[in-house]
Order: sequence, then structure tokens, then C-alpha cells
Amino acid sequence: MSYAFPYGAVLNGSGTFDPIAAHRTFGDAMLESFPFDAFVSKTITLEPRAGNPPPRLWETASGLINSIGLPNKGLEGFLQLDFPFLARLPVPLIVSVMGFDHDQLAQLVTAVAERDETQAIELNFSCPNVETGLIMGADPGEIAAATEVLRPLTDKPLIAKLTPTAHDQAAVARAAEQAGADALALINTLPGMALDPASGRPWLGAGRGGQSGPALRAVAMNQVRDVATATALPIIGMGGIASGKNAYDFVQAGATCVAVGTESFRDPAAGLRIRTELVALLETTGRDRPVLATPSGDLRHD
Ligand SMILES: Cc1cc2nc3c(=O)[nH]c(=O)nc-3n(C[C@H](O)[C@H](O)[C@H](O)COP(=O)(O)O)c2cc1C
Repeated sequence: MSYAFPYGAVLNGSGTFDPIAAHRTFGDAMLESFPFDAFVSKTITLEPRAGNPPPRLWETASGLINSIGLPNKGLEGFLQLDFPFLARLPVPLIVSVMGFDHDQLAQLVTAVAERDETQAIELNFSCPNVETGLIMGADPGEIAAATEVLRPLTDKPLIAKLTPTAHDQAAVARAAEQAGADALALINTLPGMALDPASGRPWLGAGRGGQSGPALRAVAMNQVRDVATATALPIIGMGGIASGKNAYDFVQAGATCVAVGTESFRDPAAGLRIRTELVALLETTGRDRPVLATPSGDLRHD
């Protein structure tokens, strides 16, 4: 089975909802009313990673700064320990992977695509290619080169998760599309830092982190709009979505589906509420197609 990116679907942002931990806390009730239409795993890497030193979180007035540092069990640990549970979730499973060179990416994509339950693969391109030093998702040439290597390895949908710091997001999106990506996800967190009020030194163990939550919303909607006018690919829009109205705005800006991240830390069932509110808004307005604002600011009905 392959994921089809249904219009108006509400997914989770990778790394922001842990169904294994949620099941420990809420039991089977969590599975019976699973909060998302599809589940995106925490990003996995080829080798296990311990993540960054604590503290790893700083709450701001408008979201979170995290410096989690991608702790994960690595490919083998994920497949043995986490995958069997995730494969039994009542919704399609999308596996998020990150590699530091093309060979690592190819190994990850091949291994997770072999599992029948994997319905799509999200490529977290917010990391440097150790061979070039460039952030894969910030450069059209980099994202095209990586996607071209991965495209022949599977027929399953490849979702390119873009980096919000790209100089020209539309050019990166077009490069991913031409190289064979099936969908785009945006945005990831924006670089941020916070000071310890007592010492005046950086609070986060890693010195800096990624800002998520409502602070991102306007930036994310703008990038979704740019990308939607530049490519024909389905877009999973995210960044500070906390209500159905926020989700609806992303759809209006050109997203096909939306994802909820930071809001799930406040309310683990947020995905359900946002979906109900979004469906009501789409029905009320009778819109089954988004209204895209073009980069010039004009509105066009697509
Ligand atoms: C604690 C935390 C962990 C995250 N881990 C990942 C990750 O493993 N892979 C990834 O692609 N994005 C990760 N993200 C980014 C989210 O998936 C999402 O792109 C971003 O937070 C914006 O959405 P939001 O404002 O709704 O949280 C993480 C975000 C947070 C807050």
C-alpha cells in the first residue's frame, strides 16, 4: 500500500508524538481514537544516536526551542524494537529517515521500504551532507542529487521534508519535484537560542536549537504558498498549527494535508480536535480546492 496524501488529512510532525509512550500512558483508548490520519515516525539514522546534552527544551511565549539532537535507536534498533508496534497502528505509517551521505540514505530507504507496512518515506533533509558540507534541504543541487539516488530504490512515495532556512525554497522544491519526489513537507524548525536568566549563558545543552510552535506559523504559511505556486506536488504543511482554523489557513495557502507538532505536547489529542474543526470549516465554506495567493500577492482560485 502507498500513502495517497488525502486532501485535508491531519498528520503528526515527525518527532512530536510517540505512540509507544502514549500507549503506555493511555492504553488501547489511544489506538481506538488515534489522533492522526497517518503517523510519521521520529526521524531515524543509520546508527544509534544519544542526542544532545540536557537541557533540551526551552518554552517560549509562542512555542518551544528544542535541541533534542535526533536521539534514536538506529535503523536496526528501530526495525526490531519500534517498527512492530508502529506497523499495528490503525493508520498508515510513514517512516522518517536522515542520512549524512547518499550511501546512508540509500541504506535507510531500502531497508524501510522493504517492510510492507511502510506506506511512504519522509526524507528529513535538514542535515549537512558530510561530503559537501551543504545542508541537503537548503540547496537545489543537493536535494536533487540525493533524491535522484533514492528514487530508483522504491516505488513507495518519497516525501522531501524541506529546510526553512533555504535561500530559495521554491527552487529547492522544484529541484525535488524534478528529481522524483512525490510530496513535500514543510516547515521544519527554525534555528533559535535562549539564555539562562540566572547565568546569562545559553540555556540549551547544545547552545542552540530549533524553534517550533505558533512563532513559526506566518513563516510556514508563506513558504507553503511559495512552494505551492512553484510545484504541483502534494504539500504537508506544518508550523504552529494549533486549531482547525490554523490548519484551514495552511490549506488555503496551498497545503494538501497538514501536520501538528508542538500543540500535541500541550494536548496529546490535539490532532483529533484540529481535524474535526478543519473538516467543519472545509464543509462550511464548501471549498474542496485551496485558494492560493501568488507571490505577487494576487489571489487565484486553483
Ligand atoms: C521536540 C521536537 C522534535 C522534533 N523531531 C523531529 C524529527 O525527528 N524529524 C523531523 O523531521 N522533524 C522534527 N521536528 C520538527 C517537527 O516535525 C515540525 O516540523 C516542527 O516542529 C514544526 O511544527 P510545529 O510548530 O507544529 O511543531 C521536531 C520538533 C520538535 C518540537
